Amino acid sequence: MKGIILAGGSGTRLYPSTLALCKQLLPVYDKPMIYYPLSVLMLAKIREVLIISTPKDISKFETLFANGKWLGMEIDYCVQDKPEGLAQGLILAESFIDSDTICLILGDNIFYGQGLSPMLESAKQNTTEGFATIFSYHVKNPKAFGVVEMDSKGNVLSIEEKPNEPKSNYAATGLYFYDNSAIHIAKDISPSARGELEITDVNLAYLKQNRLKAQNLGRGFTWLDTGTHDSLIEAGSFVQTIELRQGYKIACLEEIALNNGWISEDIVAQRATLLSKNSYGEYLTQLLQK
Ligand code: TTP
Repeated sequence: MKGIILAGGSGTRLYPSTLALCKQLLPVYDKPMIYYPLSVLMLAKIREVLIISTPKDISKFETLFANGKWLGMEIDYCVQDKPEGLAQGLILAESFIDSDTICLILGDNIFYGQGLSPMLESAKQNTTEGFATIFSYHVKNPKAFGVVEMDSKGNVLSIEEKPNEPKSNYAATGLYFYDNSAIHIAKDISPSARGELEITDVNLAYLKQNRLKAQNLGRGFTWLDTGTHDSLIEAGSFVQTIELRQGYKIACLEEIALNNGWISEDIVAQRATLLSKNSYGEYLTQLLQK
């Protein structure tokens, strides 16, 4: 399976902060925002990842991650000239995906909660049987999201993008698992009224073919997006609260890579030296002592 992180877009809701630096590189407490979605792909044991971003920002991601070897991964980069929609990411990633299955995640989404890894594993398994999986989450303000309507057994009945009259309080989160046919589906859809290739239209095509599953992330789970000033600071405070209370870090990439057996302790030690001036580096040092 190949991973794709969508880290482009315009970030207009975060202006002026995003005039010079893209949203996904802004810090969420103690690390850049993109660490969070990358950690989800790593928890799903996906080692080959494509980061898609804007012409002006792509080189900054390359500075941050290089070729990914220090995480035991292969990280590639791709430019999206204009923010013409999430589904365009599937088309841009065609040669990178090749004949593989796909996990697509938005670069500004944070997922945190027990039991994530088994859910990712099951979604991954679904793709080998030709199914797509989306993840739903109960929200107070569904109008701002893609809204998923489900029957009592959890079967998807409809998905509507930012509806005026939402049919449920369940939002579709920014995490999607697809089989390889998603590329052809994305190529077949037309731009929406706002001029974007909508990921909702890809999901609706799977629904029409009876190949869509929805996994609900329950109330014990946390899903945050970080696209506005308020949501960004809320996410930072959330991460800070959990990390200070538990002494565990959320989305510590070196820790996940070490646990996955992808990197050696020597590499973690090098990173601990590089980051030694703060709690991130101290955390890495503690990991090695355990
Ligand atoms: P959005 O938050 O919907 O859009 P945006 O980042 O452009 O922000 P704003 O609404 O404030 O202008 O995008 C969700 C994620 O997807 C985010 O990480 C940016 C990314 N994205 C792309 O990579 N390409 C695109 O074409 C679009 C629309 C979004």
